[in-house]
Amino acid sequence: MTRSTTRDAELRERAAQVIPGGMYGHESTKWLPDEYPQFFSRASGARIWDIDDNEYIDFMCAFGPNLLGYNDATIEAAAERQRRLGDTLTGPSAAMVELAERFVALVSHADWAMFCKNGSDATSMALMVARAHTGRSKIIMARGTYHGSHTWNTPLKAGITPEDRANLIYCDYNDPQSLQDAAAQAGGDLAGIFATAFRHEVFRDQALPDPEYAATARRICDETGALLVVDDVRAGFRIARDCSWSVVSVQPDLSCWGKMIGNGYPISALLGSDKARAAAQKIFVTGSFWFSAVPMAAGCATLDHIRDSDYLERMVRVGTVLRDRLQQQAASHGYTLRQTGPVQMPQILFEEDPDFRRGFCWTAEAVKRGVYLHPFHNMFVCAAHTEDDVRRTLEATDAAFEALRNREPTLGPVEKLAAFAEMR
Ligand SMILES: Cc1ncc(COP(=O)(O)O)c(C=O)c1O
Repeated sequence: MTRSTTRDAELRERAAQVIPGGMYGHESTKWLPDEYPQFFSRASGARIWDIDDNEYIDFMCAFGPNLLGYNDATIEAAAERQRRLGDTLTGPSAAMVELAERFVALVSHADWAMFCKNGSDATSMALMVARAHTGRSKIIMARGTYHGSHTWNTPLKAGITPEDRANLIYCDYNDPQSLQDAAAQAGGDLAGIFATAFRHEVFRDQALPDPEYAATARRICDETGALLVVDDVRAGFRIARDCSWSVVSVQPDLSCWGKMIGNGYPISALLGSDKARAAAQKIFVTGSFWFSAVPMAAGCATLDHIRDSDYLERMVRVGTVLRDRLQQQAASHGYTLRQTGPVQMPQILFEEDPDFRRGFCWTAEAVKRGVYLHPFHNMFVCAAHTEDDVRRTLEATDAAFEALRNREPTLGPVEKLAAFAEMR
């Protein structure tokens, strides 16, 4: 099996001259095995092609945005129609109102919507609305959860000050008592509680929200007047055709969305209930590209598809087959996988792999065979994945398990993960 990596290597070299570190952020391969390509050229459905034209079945889906399939014909047609009319203009197009109407119709807690570009914009906006609504400062969030890269939540410490986080109080996800303790610590100054849709941190097993934890968050907010914020940026519309906490029957006051709502077009949203409308009107938030019409047209088409199709049930079906067969396959090679989280957003870690050397080796061997998995981040199934993709994936992973078994005696600790030590 020979894969060309020449163009990727050449681009990396050029990038190192003109881009700090050659690449930054969540799509940097500096934390991944050497076999992972950094640069890509194209995508279609559930497939991506790297810059050297190697093809992969992609289980990262651009880290979430690819919900319905890359280059989905319906979404692209809607975007193209709008592109011919105009995109970034002196004011918004009708698509902004049409998209807000669709969100309010689909997401049961929402009475209004505001749009921005990235998930971090939406979560920072939620923080401001909670403070504007209450006139208070403190925000509770679960330790280790990711709500974006702005200074109040970026996971690494470089470039931030203690003041950036001075008003944050941490609890443990799914631990109602620690939530109550955090609320007690906030005293009369609690502005809001942030909650991820489910526990989906890197390097660890995922956990669905505990109904008692969710109900406790709601109760504390009702008792104190603080706002409950569900961060659905990563999990939105992969768990439900509604806010993800609808599955535990808890309605937030605010919810944050991004990634998948334009099926890859750059748009994010903050949704809110009437209770928070006046506060949302008070804050000043904006951006040069926040009102661009093409992503909004793509968003309208995406939400229509979400409302009208069985995309979610198909993702669950494919994810279930993948999980079941992988578990059997791992066992047949003498390994135990820890597969957690919803099947449509799988986290796959190895038992007895504290320094991730097995996971790194296995995913590297899968990438060499045309299947793009991730060794420590949750993955994403999209509506374009088929059972045939799963069958091909399993052929690659079978060979990857065998290669892992052969390489096992030579594996050492994964040095690349040192930068993450402070997070783990
Ligand atoms: C739960 C959650 N919130 C917020 C964000 C930030 O979104 P963005 O990267 O679009 O700014 C992310 C991104 O991964 C996320 O997973």
